[in-house]
Amino acid sequence: MREGTATLIRREDYTQPSHWIRTVDLSFDLDPAKTLVINKMTVEPNPEQPGAPLRLDGEDINLTRVLVDGEPVSFRVENQQLVLENLPSQAFGLEIRTTCAPEKNTQLSGLYTSSGGFFTQCEALGFRRITYFLDRPDVMATYKVTLKADKVRFPVLLSNGNLVEEGSLDGGKHYAVWEDPHPKPSYLFALVAANLVRREQRVRTRLGHEHLLQIYVRAGDLDKTEHAMNSLIASIAWDEHTYGLSLDLERFMIVAVSDFNMGAMENKGLNIFNTKFVLANPATATDVDFGNVESVVAHEYFHNWTGNRVTCRDWFQLSLKEGLTVFRDQQFSQDMAGSPSARAVKRIEDVRTLRQLQFPEDAGPMAHPVRPDSYLAIDNFYTATVYEKGAELVRMMHTLVGEQGFRAGMKLYFERHDGQAATCDQFAQAIADANPGSELAQRLDAFKRWYSQAGTPRVQAHGEYNAEHRQYTLRLTQTCPATPGQPSKQPFVIPVAMGLVAADGRNLELHLEGEALPRGKNTVLVLSEAEQVFTFVHVPAEPVPSLMRGFSAPVVLETELGDDALFTLLQHDHDPFNRWEAAQKLALRRLLRAVRTTGQTEVDEHFVVALRAVLRHPELDAAFKELVLTLPSEGYVAEHLEVVDPQRIHAARETMKLQLAHALHDDWVWAYEQHADNGGYSPDATSMGRRALANLALGMLCLDGATRHNPVWVGRTLQRFKDATNMTDRFGALAALVNSHAELADQALERFHAQYKDEALVIDKWFSLQAMAPEKDGQVFARIKALMQHPDFTLRTPNRARSLLMALCQSNPAAFHRADAAGYVFWADRVIEIDGINPQLASRLARAMDHWRRLAEPYRSAAQEALKRVAAKTDLSDDVREIITRALQ
Ligand code: PHE
Ligand code: ZN
Repeated sequence: MREGTATLIRREDYTQPSHWIRTVDLSFDLDPAKTLVINKMTVEPNPEQPGAPLRLDGEDINLTRVLVDGEPVSFRVENQQLVLENLPSQAFGLEIRTTCAPEKNTQLSGLYTSSGGFFTQCEALGFRRITYFLDRPDVMATYKVTLKADKVRFPVLLSNGNLVEEGSLDGGKHYAVWEDPHPKPSYLFALVAANLVRREQRVRTRLGHEHLLQIYVRAGDLDKTEHAMNSLIASIAWDEHTYGLSLDLERFMIVAVSDFNMGAMENKGLNIFNTKFVLANPATATDVDFGNVESVVAHEYFHNWTGNRVTCRDWFQLSLKEGLTVFRDQQFSQDMAGSPSARAVKRIEDVRTLRQLQFPEDAGPMAHPVRPDSYLAIDNFYTATVYEKGAELVRMMHTLVGEQGFRAGMKLYFERHDGQAATCDQFAQAIADANPGSELAQRLDAFKRWYSQAGTPRVQAHGEYNAEHRQYTLRLTQTCPATPGQPSKQPFVIPVAMGLVAADGRNLELHLEGEALPRGKNTVLVLSEAEQVFTFVHVPAEPVPSLMRGFSAPVVLETELGDDALFTLLQHDHDPFNRWEAAQKLALRRLLRAVRTTGQTEVDEHFVVALRAVLRHPELDAAFKELVLTLPSEGYVAEHLEVVDPQRIHAARETMKLQLAHALHDDWVWAYEQHADNGGYSPDATSMGRRALANLALGMLCLDGATRHNPVWVGRTLQRFKDATNMTDRFGALAALVNSHAELADQALERFHAQYKDEALVIDKWFSLQAMAPEKDGQVFARIKALMQHPDFTLRTPNRARSLLMALCQSNPAAFHRADAAGYVFWADRVIEIDGINPQLASRLARAMDHWRRLAEPYRSAAQEALKRVAAKTDLSDDVREIITRALQ
């Protein structure tokens, strides 16, 4: 069923199911055109709902028979549900036979085929596309699964749990039987039947248990699995060490598939991954890819406890597993990075993601609380708010109860809820109960507003120094803008990590009035009212406040700090996050001034000198330098404007980039020469940082050269591109050529394509690099349209579709927002076209227009027209309709 039929689902309406399904015995006769599914369940009436009919969900499947305790019964199918009445009042057996057509399943939800193999995706509502079921996460059962398929075409047969039997059958078929002892909700079911090879390793954990770890990929990809295996082993060790959580399975499998809507899926014992987040070797993957593989492997593995052992009561609680698991994977990646500085780099990157994706979401028509109140299509709520902001909520709890307190809270959470389907409330309660007397426990109800109120709070800070009394008073106030359905908000509980920095660079002792002892040079204030004043005593000189250190809460801090204060923080703050933040603010300020006035930036000497000091700093890490010297994105600049003219922002940022390329020319040369040579490839934080800085420098040098028609650096970049011994360096050089619109870029692109034509993930990069190039006279947009016709392009593989379309519509504002509206026409056509193939993918693309109301004319009217054209289609999926309706509301 593609056409939308759903009605709004509300969190308040939650009721327990009419029945519990305790065991499931599933058997599959796998055939791409017509697969037979026999589903034998034991069902128990729920005493809370006596006599209620059983309504089983089903979608796009053909029902052939229904037996209750072995006897045919009467039934009806109504609104995509199989309705059974007059059922036994005691436990009974229910058998359902259906067929489905995996090769026709282009939505990639349920059972589908990819490169000739069978794969499943059941979260959130895919299981109902396999068989009729109570497809909701609070119904948990143990599964036994029998797979039958052609032995030659599908030699590998996998499902959750343990392999208990396998053998040959007549007619060239074989079979395998899997049993998963852990009760699980249907969304964690998975099967794979395909022609794959594997890397495997046995590990022994601290508890002395042996486990078999396996990674399944297509035959040519085995040499790209080592990093994922290492990441998995490190994740297992980390979770045992950090939280005392051990692997509870004898066998843990990861399978890579090239057609996948999301990043990866945590099916119990059988994680299924988008190839992009498993496959990596130095020749085909960049440092960023290596980092992503590490964090996604960890994320899915950590779900084994936070998500699988304790799952969600209903889909409104999604952040219970996602926010917590993102927090855990962020912690893990920081620990893997090692040094304090490398940890800070990871934190800055995570905050950048949050600001790029979640802040705009919270300010637009799709704004929703971390625990949403209603939805039409749950797939639309796998958002940056539920994931990334949800992780920030967990981080704030961690800050409020401390490292040890948080571990104690996690322990209590599992003691209370292991094996259950739980709620966000229950999680927060466990963390608070384990820490009586903590700031969290004292203000738990107020803290939980973070779960129910949408919008990004604004914190204003005003400081005053009294030289006579050597006192510094800090007045903090908070407000939160209205969001859809929430016109006014109550104050949030905001942990404000902070310090005071003197003009001479000292980080001062923090002594709060009324407290016996100073708190050291770093403390956490808790802002829980609309306005609060904090007074510091024994302050020797007028300080610069360093607030929200480490980004201690997901808020916008509105400071009154002048440039001099920001320069002080950039130079001296002990907190690397706020050092970076100071540079971002200095750049942002200049960009905003240009956008609001002449449209042209003029970088001042002071700013240049400060950036040079960072670039040439003898102690700072290369990775940190790269972050400081990267300008805020066009999207981030747009966030700070009431009315957005994407072309003006682009022009201002491009001019500033060019000016910095020029003004720091000798420094870029120095930086490049110092960091370009790194010996053999290793994906460790230090050498990754060096490569990142070398690539940034090369990009600047190439840009400066291409603009001045000076061939020296362009030529060197091409040479670097040819000689590179790893993908990070090669792709960095290619990007430098493409992004500077150098004449040699086309030649390099052609060569790159020829060299990697059989590496799908590299070809994705080749497409997206071209689609994300800085727009110049409409050339980039024209190229994207031409690339749609490229023989390698297809809308059916999400990674490939995203490599061009998301790159344009989400990541290249100046190419997308055109005065002639061609970008919007293109967008509307693609949304409609993809909706007929894959609604989840279409609705992600649809979100590119979330911010149309803030656009300047002529963009605004043209965007509205495009949205209305999509809205006028009568056969839209629920997914796309929900996004478009919200945008137009
Ligand atoms: N639960 C998956 C993850 O976080 C994401 C996902 C959702 C994948 C829905 C597929 C479908 O990690
Ligand atoms: Zn997840």
